[in-house]
Amino acid sequence: MNKEQVILIVDDNPDNLALVGNILKKSNHRLLFAQSGVHALKAIYDKQPDLILLDVMMPDLDGFAVCKQLKQDTNFADIPIIFLTAKAEKDNVIAGLELGAVDYITKPFNSKELITRVDTHLELKMAKEDLKQRVAELSMAKIELAHKVEELNQANLTKDKFFSIISHDLMNPFSGLIGFASLLVDKNQSLNDKQRDECIDHIFQLSKQGLNLLTNLLDWSRSQTGRMEVTPMHLNLKSIVDGNIKLLHNQVTAKQIQFFSTIDSKQTVFADERMLTTIIRNLLSNAIKFTPDRGEITVSAQEKDNYLEILIADTGIGMTAEILDKIFRIDVSHTTKGTHGERGTGLGLILCKEFIEKNQGTITATSEQGKGSQFYVCFPKDNPS
Ligand SMILES: Nc1ncnc2c1ncn2[C@@H]1O[C@H](COP(=O)(O)OP(=O)(O)OP(=O)(O)O)[C@@H](O)[C@H]1O
Ligand SMILES: [Mg+2]
Repeated sequence: MNKEQVILIVDDNPDNLALVGNILKKSNHRLLFAQSGVHALKAIYDKQPDLILLDVMMPDLDGFAVCKQLKQDTNFADIPIIFLTAKAEKDNVIAGLELGAVDYITKPFNSKELITRVDTHLELKMAKEDLKQRVAELSMAKIELAHKVEELNQANLTKDKFFSIISHDLMNPFSGLIGFASLLVDKNQSLNDKQRDECIDHIFQLSKQGLNLLTNLLDWSRSQTGRMEVTPMHLNLKSIVDGNIKLLHNQVTAKQIQFFSTIDSKQTVFADERMLTTIIRNLLSNAIKFTPDRGEITVSAQEKDNYLEILIADTGIGMTAEILDKIFRIDVSHTTKGTHGERGTGLGLILCKEFIEKNQGTITATSEQGKGSQFYVCFPKDNPS
């Protein structure tokens, strides 16, 4: 045993205390003595001994009462108790063991027996503590392992998605571009003006689609690989929403969509400017894309504790519960064409969620098919740390 062990000897008879003390003093343990149940409890609470040798018959608080009290207290219940009993007290022995004592030693004491039993129970106690420590370490390791497995699974999903986008989605705009461009290049194709204009328009749309995909993919891969710095600052929400609306003006007017914003020029959030702009642009362009002609889009914000909750609501086509469940997930990302056949990548909301979480925010959505959708984004108003 490497650590000095503390043994408390409790007996109301000072001769007995001296006797047991004499027997045990040759061992390397530290000995404490108590002459009553009350003193024993005080010594136990103060010194937390490793083992207690406890006399049964004592005035006031007897050995059983001390034992009972300790077993009810989780801080002390594990300290092994050996009762010191007279040979004739067989019933006491059983009662003591039933109360949770680990052993008993009968008086008059045999030195060898006393030392052996004490050492055995001290070793057992240490082995038990060691085991407990190992179990605790193992369960910690198990939790860490589960986290690592989860991280690896996520990384795997991300990698799979990445390859599927590169190999499939990126091919589409390119095959389209080459198809239409070759029609224009091929002198044998006698296209009339209308057909040429259509080809050019297709090339324009496909280029925009390809660029959108590449921008999303690039942003996403940079955020995945930790190469995207987050520089949060106090930002004026109104100017970011207005700036985005200006950029999306053509789409809004093409669909004659009514746009309302009740954002106050005093409302600010603490976020990274580029990321917030991307988030608002993605949510607004979704609202426009999935709202039929003459629909409505409303942007508002309200303060909630330390957060500002931004709501982007539309009267568009809405989503089924099944689609709603997929829109923020990389493993099953989902894309549908807009009401004018606009194509997307299905990456927009995944990026939004990623950026929002990097800024200590949250995003949730509610929707009803045929009625419209609501996207709620919460950002801290101030530096959260
Ligand atoms: N406001 C909305 N109303 C109805 N459906 C929506 C709305 N916003 C998102 N969705 C659904 O969620 C899907 C995923 O949206 P997300 O923005 O991630 O991708 P996308 O718009 O399809 O493509 P991208 O954003 O790359 O152009 C959409 O295709 C659509 O099915
Ligand atoms: Mg989108």
